[in-house]
Amino acid sequence: MSKKSKIIIIGIESSCDETAAALVEIKAGKFKILSNIVSSQIKIHKKYGGVVPEVAARNHIVNILPVIDRALTEAKIKPARIDKIAVTFGPGLITSLMVGLETAKTLAFVWKKPIAAVNHMKAHLYANWLANQAIKYPAICLTVSGGHTELILIKNQTNLKKVGQTVDDAAGEAFDKVAKLLEIGYPGGPMISRLAQTGNPKAFKLARPMINSKDFNFSFSGLKTSVLYAYENSKLKTKNLKLKANSCKLTADMCASFQQAAVDVLAAKTIKAALHFGAKTVMLSGGVAANQLLRETLQAEIKKLKLNFVMPDKSLCTDNAAMIAAAGYFEKPIDWKKIRVNPNLSI
Ligand code: KG4
Ligand code: ZN
Repeated sequence: MSKKSKIIIIGIESSCDETAAALVEIKAGKFKILSNIVSSQIKIHKKYGGVVPEVAARNHIVNILPVIDRALTEAKIKPARIDKIAVTFGPGLITSLMVGLETAKTLAFVWKKPIAAVNHMKAHLYANWLANQAIKYPAICLTVSGGHTELILIKNQTNLKKVGQTVDDAAGEAFDKVAKLLEIGYPGGPMISRLAQTGNPKAFKLARPMINSKDFNFSFSGLKTSVLYAYENSKLKTKNLKLKANSCKLTADMCASFQQAAVDVLAAKTIKAALHFGAKTVMLSGGVAANQLLRETLQAEIKKLKLNFVMPDKSLCTDNAAMIAAAGYFEKPIDWKKIRVNPNLSI
């Protein structure tokens, strides 16, 4: 943390298929986003049904400098005014991470600026600080993304401890795999939540794996299998499935039932952890935190418990660089020569 009362941090992110740069000003502990540019490669990877690592890295190379340039221009900030560079060094796709990291290291050298290496998963959690709401400790954060599903106990601003995680698939991965199964496109999360709006969440009785287990871990691969069997079964039963209306109803009902099951488990385990650890604040983060049902369910449940609830704006849940800058605020700068990518980094 800096002793200066106002500092400006540039965040740089390239761990998966989003190239992002943002400028964030921190003044008297308050965060202000000056610019937040995200260049998404979704259209490129859509046709493959998932992110192709080498294709992602090549596109980061093309995008990274224009994205940084746009972030500086939109924020009306010259490099000389920047106090710190914050860059993701893991977890993520190795070659994608390298593009952002090597660019940031070059800028640190050329601009003569301190650089902080940021853990992408910690950054999802620190997106909550961008909301500038009071955070009382201890806090519990549910971090749900495409590659991770974790419960983090936060004792103070920089003391984070993982207390639960998925034993198989991540929640976002389950959304993506179910969407693939239902042939509704990529990425799965936004597609499923959109179709679920017209479906019946009680239409299918799906498994809620580990909802009653004593620990704070999750499992989503059983839920995915449960969707597979229920879907195949009902396709066989529905004689008129050839009629488009019938097949659309079936898909919408499945989306709603799956989403409900996933949210039930995520909310139940978060509440269990909050109660167990005596949390005063509950937070949400990661791409799946953009899910409206999850946001509404958790907020309502936490309100009933009279605890403080904080969540980032939807646009700050999915990958972005403002969260990298926020996390970089809490991270000590290190010698750029010593930073290496770490694709398997954990909290
Ligand atoms: O955090 P994120 O942007 O990237 C990773 O670090 O993985 O998360 C991406 C994940 C994807 O699996 C995507 O399907 C999911 O977040 N996601 C959603 C929604 N928006 C994105 N899942 C459920 N509902 C959404 N609205
Ligand atoms: Zn992410």
